[in-house]
Amino acid sequence: MEILIRPDAASVAQAAADIIADYADRGATLGLATGSTPVAMYKELIARYQRGELSFSQSQAFLLDEYIGLPREHEQSYFATIRREFTYHIDIDDARVYSPDGMAAHPDDAGLAYDKAIAEAGGIDVQVLGVGTDGHIGFNEPGSSLSSGTRMKTLHASTISDNARFFESTQDVPVHVLTQGLGTISRGGHLMLLATGDNKADAVAALAEGPLSAICPASILQLHPHATVIVDEAAAARLKHADYYHFVEANKPGWQGH
Ligand code: GLP
Repeated sequence: MEILIRPDAASVAQAAADIIADYADRGATLGLATGSTPVAMYKELIARYQRGELSFSQSQAFLLDEYIGLPREHEQSYFATIRREFTYHIDIDDARVYSPDGMAAHPDDAGLAYDKAIAEAGGIDVQVLGVGTDGHIGFNEPGSSLSSGTRMKTLHASTISDNARFFESTQDVPVHVLTQGLGTISRGGHLMLLATGDNKADAVAALAEGPLSAICPASILQLHPHATVIVDEAAAARLKHADYYHFVEANKPGWQGH
């Protein structure tokens, strides 16, 4: 796992945009995450696209997760959210943005179909991830099977409360979701997790320096051969080996790439 520590959220967005831009140049299949953390990276990528520096015309995208019971058109569906925040503003057609079907009569069938679609697309080349304050990635809450496929999950009370800010009231937050599983996410070629702010410091320390455990689903990054964690100083505050991560980056060989 490579850990890049940046002074602030804006520099996290720049570093993450540099990585995604390289993948877009190669027409890669992108795994996209919602949540507020990647929004600044999406803004930066939109700006580069608008300046003609970047094109997504050869790329397609798979979302990490979706609320069950919200149609795609609902403004808080993750499909609508990612469209509003990113894909509508770049040259990637809606038809090439895939999301789990939150309206399916049989969510588990929809989960299996989603994993099949990802496999048929040749897999996800780079997966953007945020992290929940409880250590979840996608919507894989604590206790998620480390090898799970896309399936229904029930949200943790802490996630419902964290996400209530996007809805009129806590009661309006859907309780059930469809999320790429930890096994699905692990099959991505490169996992890139972003975290900013001091409310993420415990989750970042747990995922990077704690035990590999279903209690901290983000700790599966420890098993992955190509994982990059990009955090600001606030989110890095509880990392015991922060000095080492800076040293590693300062001494990174030029041939290594992202
Ligand atoms: C949601 C999403 C996650 C996201 C997390 C953190 O629950 N399902 O993919 O990483 O929230 O969101 P934020 O970046 O807003 O803190």
